[in-house]
Amino acid sequence: MENLEELKKEILDKINNSNVLKDLDDIRIAILGKKGKLTDMMKGLGSLPLEEKISLGKSLNIVKSKIEEAIEKQKKFLEEKALEEKLKSETLDVTLPIRPETQGRIHPVSKIYEEVAAIFGQMGFDVADGPDIEDQFHNFNALNMPANHPARQMQDTFYLNNDPTKPFDMDTAYVIRTHTSGMQIRTMEKQQPPIRIIAPGRTYRSDYDATHTPMFHQVEGLVIDKNITLAHLKGCLYDFMKAFFELDELPVRYRPSYFPFTEPSAEMDIGCLKTKNELKIGAGTDWLEVLGCGMVHPNVLRAGGINPDEYQGFAFGLGVDRLAMLKYGIPDLRTFFESDVRWLKHYGFTPLDFSSMTGGLSDNGGLTR
Ligand code: PHE
Repeated sequence: MENLEELKKEILDKINNSNVLKDLDDIRIAILGKKGKLTDMMKGLGSLPLEEKISLGKSLNIVKSKIEEAIEKQKKFLEEKALEEKLKSETLDVTLPIRPETQGRIHPVSKIYEEVAAIFGQMGFDVADGPDIEDQFHNFNALNMPANHPARQMQDTFYLNNDPTKPFDMDTAYVIRTHTSGMQIRTMEKQQPPIRIIAPGRTYRSDYDATHTPMFHQVEGLVIDKNITLAHLKGCLYDFMKAFFELDELPVRYRPSYFPFTEPSAEMDIGCLKTKNELKIGAGTDWLEVLGCGMVHPNVLRAGGINPDEYQGFAFGLGVDRLAMLKYGIPDLRTFFESDVRWLKHYGFTPLDFSSMTGGLSDNGGLTR
């Protein structure tokens, strides 16, 4: 009996001092397993006289349940400890810098899209999205350019055969859009005035030199409401240009022009200084053309299902690539599409500098660039 008490104490100490689950299990097997110490002792009971058998048996059972209890308790404790250690070792330090941060770059064209959306976004414009492959109705007809209209020749259009099982048919052929102006019609078809949208996107014309590539980028703008005037157009685009070039003062002028879908039509120039090696925006006596614009032609409103006696508006089309070249001093447009990583490293932007009117358009104070 005395031995049993000692043995119990010894075993309980062992259990309570065990540090890992594996050790605890070894102890359990050594005591309670098939060939365990206590199991053996219980087996030995059989050879004892009845009275001893009863009293020792009782004591052994008590010891056994005490041991089982202790093992269970220690097991729980060790399991919790193990979990805690695992969690600790798997912690992510979210304050570490993002290592590839300096690797990727945002293309200047994407940057300009961001900037344009930030500026017009603050003026309350929505951003609309439309297809690159366009039917002639949206690209031409609805824009006051019926078949054989001479203005169709102003743009060197890529035509697509819309039914490969039949010979090419000029009348039903699709085009890859020559401008984003089709989005004026698509917007009017979907939405009643007041309308205030910009529509950025890719555009295509058969053209190739230092300032023209067959694929280029535009942002269309459309505002329609009651009592919209040319003054709104002028003020809106003037504010845009100042915000875009990040200048408080910027000379601008509107030159009369012609687009079939606007009347009157104009092109907007901004003041600059052209020297041999440099172009300085906002100073000097030279002019640079930056966009086409005008009051939406009544025929266009009609084609879009809007009553021109009730509503009027203005539209504009920005050449994104040209704006990128001007703002960031990139001399050759063709380099935009060469996918040269060195070029992108030089002219590209850090992805974390998202353009905003409050945080800065192209410059966030040099925090991450
Ligand atoms: N779509 C014209 C172009 O591609 C630009 C423009 C858009 C002009 C809207 C007036 C109004 O040149």
